[in-house]
Amino acid sequence: MDTLNIRNKNLYLNDVKLEKILKGKQTPIYIYSVDQIKKNIKEIQTSFKKAQPLICFAIKANSNINILKVLKKKNIGADVVSMGELKLALKAGIKPNKIVFSGVGKTEQEIKFAIQKEILSINAESSNEIELINKISGKLKKQTNIGIRLNPNIVAKTNKKITTGNKTNKFGVTIENFYNIITNKEKFENLNIHLLSVHIGSQIKDILAYKKVIKLIDNILIKLKEKKHSISYIDLGGGMSIPYFKKDSKFNFKKFGIEVDKFFKKHQKKIIFEIGRYLTGNCGIIISKIIYIKKINDRFFVILDAGMNDMARSAIYESFHEIIPLKKNRKKFVKKIEFVGPICESSDTFGIYNNYFLLNEGEYVCITNCGAYGRTLSSNYNMRPLIEEIIIDKNKYRTVRQRQKIEDLI
Ligand code: LLP
Repeated sequence: MDTLNIRNKNLYLNDVKLEKILKGKQTPIYIYSVDQIKKNIKEIQTSFKKAQPLICFAIKANSNINILKVLKKKNIGADVVSMGELKLALKAGIKPNKIVFSGVGKTEQEIKFAIQKEILSINAESSNEIELINKISGKLKKQTNIGIRLNPNIVAKTNKKITTGNKTNKFGVTIENFYNIITNKEKFENLNIHLLSVHIGSQIKDILAYKKVIKLIDNILIKLKEKKHSISYIDLGGGMSIPYFKKDSKFNFKKFGIEVDKFFKKHQKKIIFEIGRYLTGNCGIIISKIIYIKKINDRFFVILDAGMNDMARSAIYESFHEIIPLKKNRKKFVKKIEFVGPICESSDTFGIYNNYFLLNEGEYVCITNCGAYGRTLSSNYNMRPLIEEIIIDKNKYRTVRQRQKIEDLI
């Protein structure tokens, strides 16, 4: 997280001392850095010299409308997967012609709404769905632009819970199925099949899997040309990784950009990406207070007021989010400590450290890299309210979502 920094032994996000924000506030709190998001956007946009892709933000990574507004101002579109996300994108001011709709289970109601809004593309994931879109489109007397999501059977090296391009996954259609649909496209008289999409998974570190996808699409486009079928857009999905561990290297966007530019030069198709994590993952933190420090045998449990309901990634994917105290530079404590939340199950853990800093009850820590799939995976488990969210822009900060009230949950 480039914007997290230490000054005079205090942790800052941009130019704001985090401790200062906490005055009169109830923790845990999500805090996001606008500067970091802007840096990420710039890095991505400048990696493609020729292709100039449309970058759609995968809203499932972060659904705060103020963050969407920051992205929108920088020409980012949206990748949505539900009526809720679509309405949110529109409310944030993102134009329908920059919105793609993904997902294996779009309902009739959702499809109807997307058709009426005339979004850039409804990316269908089965023949059944295509038939339904065609039917609804006919009823509404519309000609609808759709995409077909291909399951390329290319396995990306990542956590198996978040791979999506394997033939055993529920996503997309097979290549045979794809050709079959394209060859019979006249059957779908109310549709214009103008896009081919692929998304092989999330937190993918190596560009090799993407190279395989590009190669496959290259072949498909050559075949389509022979058969005199054409497609205007290639949507290469998202999935680019961010470093969670200090030793992790960054996803090489520059190198990736070169590959994509080559592909673009050859086929001259408009390129789309559906990027979530890389845009917002490293822009967000959670500040949490230590409620108790409890010793059981040789292990010290540091019990935080943030739990798996506030940030589920560690519990679901055993993912690592480095924890940093707000006050730094003090003695190391040469024992095993485990950061845990208050939730009543043992999966509610944020990781074990050997040789961590000496900590005290009542002090605050920062959980890093929570800007993607943090708040959006939160729940009210254990009747706990969803927590406050704050945005920092340069040296100013403001609350952008209030903490829920327990009364509203009852
Ligand atoms: N497009 C589609 C069709 C997707 O399903 C996803 C993510 C994305 C784009 C964005 O992928 P990204 O660029 O963010 O990697 N909850 C998990 C991640 C689930 C990803 C689901 N799909 C986690 O916290 O790691």
